[in-house]
Amino acid sequence: MIPEHIAIIMDGNGRWAKKKSLPRIFGHRQGIKTVKKIVKSASRLGIKVLTLYAFSTENWERPKTEIEALFSLLSQFVEKELKELASEGVKLRILGDLSKFPQNLKTKIISACKATQKNSDLELNIALNYGARQEIVRAIEEIVKQNIKKPTEEIISSFLYTAGQPDPDLLIRTSGEFRVSNFLLWQIAYSEIYITNKLWPDFTSQDLEIAISEFQKRERRFGGI
Ligand code: IPE
Ligand code: IPE
Ligand code: MG
Repeated sequence: MIPEHIAIIMDGNGRWAKKKSLPRIFGHRQGIKTVKKIVKSASRLGIKVLTLYAFSTENWERPKTEIEALFSLLSQFVEKELKELASEGVKLRILGDLSKFPQNLKTKIISACKATQKNSDLELNIALNYGARQEIVRAIEEIVKQNIKKPTEEIISSFLYTAGQPDPDLLIRTSGEFRVSNFLLWQIAYSEIYITNKLWPDFTSQDLEIAISEFQKRERRFGGI
């Protein structure tokens, strides 16, 4: 079975650049190229939802220059690459709090989301200023506001950024770190986890296929026997 939803912690851009004695931003630039390739492959492989972790609520700790460079790359991606991907049936959704982002970037992102709403081949979630704990707090705030006295799992899920989407079947992390770094804590309750030492800029479509075939070998029990 092909996983319906794949989530990826795209890590290792900085290390990729360091290995080549280049500034970190070169790693991010190469990382965006990988994003484009992997989105196309996911679509070709029949994946329904692809979630990419692009900027965490903790990434504000980074130097201002790196954050600005990341935003500028993101802005270029939304403007140029996304147009092409949109014409190939990609539907964009943002997971995270956009309110802290520069106004022009916010406008670009929101209009890209609107422009792709009718697409249905691949749902592309980009997690931006995303933190799973923040997402859960936000859901609870909304539940309290709506005076819901008996929240169920379904109700809680319906207030998350991923509302209406299936939970990830497979969680991939590149660059060999064994942690989830505040990503989709609620949604990955039963995801299969695949960690590769490949740095994100070096991650290829073939690596994605390897991760999927690894996933296909796993026996998912969901607590049963
Ligand atoms: C992942 O690469 C991209 C973002 C977090 C934006 P890193 O920038 O974390 O790269 P490393 O972990 O320092 O190698
Ligand atoms: C996780 O990578 C966040 C993204 C990929 C956007 P980090 O590099 O920020 O995570 P840590 O710091 O290694 O946990
Ligand atoms: Mg990292």
